[in-house]
Amino acid sequence: MPTDPKPADRSYLFVLSSARTGGNAEALARRAAAALPRAVPQTWLDLARLPLAPFEDIRHSVGVYPASEGHARTLFDATLAASDLVFVVPVYWYAVPTSAKLYLDHWSGWMRVEGADFRGRMAGKRFWAVTILSDRDLRQAEPLLGTLKLTAEYLNATWSGSVVGFGNKPGDVLADHAALADADRLFGAGGDLASSFRP
Ligand SMILES: Cc1cc2nc3c(=O)[nH]c(=O)nc-3n(C[C@H](O)[C@H](O)[C@H](O)COP(=O)(O)O)c2cc1C
Repeated sequence: MPTDPKPADRSYLFVLSSARTGGNAEALARRAAAALPRAVPQTWLDLARLPLAPFEDIRHSVGVYPASEGHARTLFDATLAASDLVFVVPVYWYAVPTSAKLYLDHWSGWMRVEGADFRGRMAGKRFWAVTILSDRDLRQAEPLLGTLKLTAEYLNATWSGSVVGFGNKPGDVLADHAALADADRLFGAGGDLASSFRP
């Protein structure tokens, strides 16, 4: 049974996956991160700047995967080093963006890197999501959140919470005061926060 790290042992990895820089998802995530104690380390990685190779399914042919190199290694190491993994994921077609999905697909290979114990080391981490959508219908975020929650469950990680903001063009979310308030309390309160979408 993994032990819950003490606050002093926490470190947050924010994985950005928007297909543009300076978007709403990052803005909302930065707002949430500002509420973390200064002593808690934060790492921010942008999947657009760390492009991954197409994932190849060799599970039932070769069986094991080689140790990651390049951008994959950067992501592999950062993922394992963090106690808290924050998916910064706008809704794209009711799902996570392609870059975030590819990152998750690579986990399948990372679970089969000899000696890495990726799966064992993911257990007990806390997963979070910061998401954005441009529709007032919150149901459009449900498949995305479901993907991440089931991924946490599969790896025996803890689903800790999410914040859902409203916005389309960059900066829109800064006018979504309910979402900003949710972001302010996300890492303190946890839970799935979506005040913007409550009637
Ligand atoms: C490829 C693509 C697909 C999208 N699909 C949806 C969608 O299914 N539902 C929705 O409400 N908004 C959708 N949007 C709008 C984005 O979620 C919205 O513009 C968001 O603010 C983008 O995040 P960013 O500012 O961090 O880049 C989509 C945008 C793109 C580019």
